[in-house]
Amino acid sequence: LSVLILHGPNLNLLGLREPQIYGASTLAQIDDRLVKLGLSLGTKVESLQSNHEGVLVDAIHAARERHQGIVINAGAYTHTSIAIRDAISGVKIPTVEVHLSNVYHRESFRHHSFISSVVVGQISGFGSHSYELGLRAIVTYIQKSL
Ligand code: DQA
Repeated sequence: LSVLILHGPNLNLLGLREPQIYGASTLAQIDDRLVKLGLSLGTKVESLQSNHEGVLVDAIHAARERHQGIVINAGAYTHTSIAIRDAISGVKIPTVEVHLSNVYHRESFRHHSFISSVVVGQISGFGSHSYELGLRAIVTYIQKSL
């Protein structure tokens, strides 16, 4: 199995960026933990971060050749991007949406996700652990569907 982890805009700043909201872990530390968790689940994990919507769309398209599942934190694009939503629904790769913060505890503009209607499920509010829960969830989902 191979799973793609996609990180959207500003997540390259994790560790520095509003640590009271997003935690102290850096993106490299999160990615490292996901690779190790993947190993224990028999799953290869590859990660990509981009601040550019089109790069994320291209990565979702390219995932068709190499990955059976996607875990995505689209950052602020969650709340704005019909293009990312259409890419996920277009490629039909099972996807889990994750957020570090509980977006429903925050500003109302974060309460709507364009992505949630095309994903298997959403995990929000567990800090960097949200990604690990997301990886476990997608691996279980893929294994059940094989
Ligand atoms: C986020 C929540 C978004 O509202 C925000 O724009 C982010 C990060 C999260 O992981 O909690 O960039 O996706």
